[in-house]
Amino acid sequence: MPDTTARILTLRAAGTSLVVELAEPVPRVLHWGADLGELTEDGLAALALTGEPAVLNNSIDIPRRFTVWPTEADGWSGTPAHQGHLAGTAAAPRLSLTGTSYRPQAEGGELSLDLTDPGAALDVTVTYRLEPSGVLGVQTRIGRRPDAAPEPYDLAQVTTMLPLPRRAAEILDFTGKWSRERSPQRRPLGFGTYAREVRRGKPGLDSPYLVTVGVPGFGFGHGEVWGVHLAWSGDQRYLVEQLPEGAGTHAAVLGGGELLRPGEIRLAPGESYTTPVCHFTWSDQGLDGLADRFHTLVRARPAHPRTPRPLILNSWEAVYFDHDLDRLLRLADKAAEVGVERFVLDDGWFRGRRSDHAGLGDWTVDPVVWPEGLTPLVDHVRSLGMEFGLWVEPEMVNLDSDLAREHPDWVLGPARGVGPSSRHQHVLDLANPQVWDYLLGALDALVDKYGIAYLKWDHNRELHEAVHGGADRPVAHAQVLALYRLIDALKERHPGLEIESCASGGGRIDLGILARTDRVWASDCNDPVERQMIQRWTAQLLPPELIGAHVGSGTSHTTARVSSDAFRLTTALFGHAGIEQDITRCAPEELARLTAWAALYRELRPLLHGGRTVRADLAGDATLLHGVVAHDGAAALYCWARVATSPEGQSGRVQLPGLAPEATYRVRVRTELGLPSFHQTSGPAWLTTALDDWLTLPGAVLTVAGLPMPNLNPDQALLLEVRRND
Ligand code: GLA
Repeated sequence: MPDTTARILTLRAAGTSLVVELAEPVPRVLHWGADLGELTEDGLAALALTGEPAVLNNSIDIPRRFTVWPTEADGWSGTPAHQGHLAGTAAAPRLSLTGTSYRPQAEGGELSLDLTDPGAALDVTVTYRLEPSGVLGVQTRIGRRPDAAPEPYDLAQVTTMLPLPRRAAEILDFTGKWSRERSPQRRPLGFGTYAREVRRGKPGLDSPYLVTVGVPGFGFGHGEVWGVHLAWSGDQRYLVEQLPEGAGTHAAVLGGGELLRPGEIRLAPGESYTTPVCHFTWSDQGLDGLADRFHTLVRARPAHPRTPRPLILNSWEAVYFDHDLDRLLRLADKAAEVGVERFVLDDGWFRGRRSDHAGLGDWTVDPVVWPEGLTPLVDHVRSLGMEFGLWVEPEMVNLDSDLAREHPDWVLGPARGVGPSSRHQHVLDLANPQVWDYLLGALDALVDKYGIAYLKWDHNRELHEAVHGGADRPVAHAQVLALYRLIDALKERHPGLEIESCASGGGRIDLGILARTDRVWASDCNDPVERQMIQRWTAQLLPPELIGAHVGSGTSHTTARVSSDAFRLTTALFGHAGIEQDITRCAPEELARLTAWAALYRELRPLLHGGRTVRADLAGDATLLHGVVAHDGAAALYCWARVATSPEGQSGRVQLPGLAPEATYRVRVRTELGLPSFHQTSGPAWLTTALDDWLTLPGAVLTVAGLPMPNLNPDQALLLEVRRND
């Protein structure tokens, strides 16, 4: 029974709130969005009264409510909160409230609602946790009572939903492909169900990522927006649904959940299913406001990296599979010379791995290519003062490997045989304890032996026909849980170990994997034009210190576009920076620039990795202005980039977002990386001064009136530093 006598319960934090009424039989959501302030009992009663909609023509004869667990029992004709059956029966869930636990805190708090469905002997607990960041995490546990009839309950789907008002009428979500992740797409919200379903066994390169609905025209710095992100690294489903009759007094719903395969979750008496956390966020400060809440949430993780993010050199685009000790020693020498702090040996080091056709699964060092093991390289790297990192792809297997030959039954797939390979590889059945033990043992041995500081954990193919055990039981859900357990166990054995989540680039970026990893590889594309966009949108969820950003070679390996050093270096500065090119071939002036960049990165990373990410709303995508502003407002760094030409000659005055109009600032251009090439003769006047020295300007000019920006040639960027005068 309720642990509170109040009927209407509120969670409030950081300007947002959730209000739930303990209505019978199922509580309903009265409000989610802007904080309504400290409402008196009368105020709350008024909210409940005005939460009662009209009874429409040709409709159920009571006001339709949007409950915390919408089902047809409330007259809800939209997507139900859960679906399932008991051997073809008990298909009409009818829940009622049995208990409440309410623990508000000064900022946020938790509300849990216990519901029961006697027909299927199901107990449901929905938990709302409002974090101090204002992000609302919702998680549900559905359990079968221990004394239930023995047939398993087939749980088909669980969807967590919160209501949206009518003014939320434009959707922004993401798609993408290899080397072009997080491509934004916008559309008006119509009637019906807009659903994004992911059946790749990971969020995918086209991950919906963060589904946002807002007042049409919302931008980075303005507009009211509601977003949802699912902290899950497997199959998933997002939806925005609007029915003509609305959702109670609300207009539509926003939600998501794990996409379950038929028969995947079958609850025997005493068993339960727990959903991934669905993170809901509201802001009246546009997409930057949403991003800020997520960054605050992520930075509050107990395991969030708190040490300076070491500058990386990754060997992939430098040597690919051509692992030659002398060559790698020279690469390490140059890396140390320019100021690299972590050297990462990418794919190609393990048994039989001379190309991507063979070797995955055989996680011991190749004795032919590395006759003395990795020790000579590791020792050298460490003697140069750098940490050592290693690439692995534990969940995968090439059929051309000793592992697959010895244990063909460890490969995930139907009893009739595995389907087509992808990048010549298949997936291991992680839910098989023998596979799991083998992987933990192999990884543990490597980390132990070589004192590995960092694993780049890859996942290059999608899961198809993820079934096992002769009877073809679906196991995509179990696979993700086994992966989480594997990473957790490895980290428990090696507490300082950092792990990067990579999946052909940014194919596995979600707050589930990030609960146990330390950064993501945003994309295999190091082309700075593409990267400007990929990083800008990856930052919608993650702060820059978690987003791997490397300087590739002048000619991009993925797009063949040629770009200047300065543009590539400036672009890679706004993340967890690294180098991904064969710097043994760099001319001395290129090395000098890399060295200056490394020093700049070390200087600026406390700001870049701790501040608030801001992005300006400009007309069109040809120019971008983004930056990071320190939380105390004392410093900021902006990047003014041009990725294409555009018809206008003058930018006009451009507002630098995030500064205080009443403060006074000094502004200067950082020139260590070289100057961009300009598409103009000179000026604007302020720039000429700021190129030489600090220029003092009022905040009102910088952030309200705006600065006229120089016209750059395409693929160029200007780095602007701002300091507040105290
Ligand atoms: C994936 C990754 C790359 C690289 C290769 C190695 O494609 O995204 O960065 O590690 O695998 O095979």
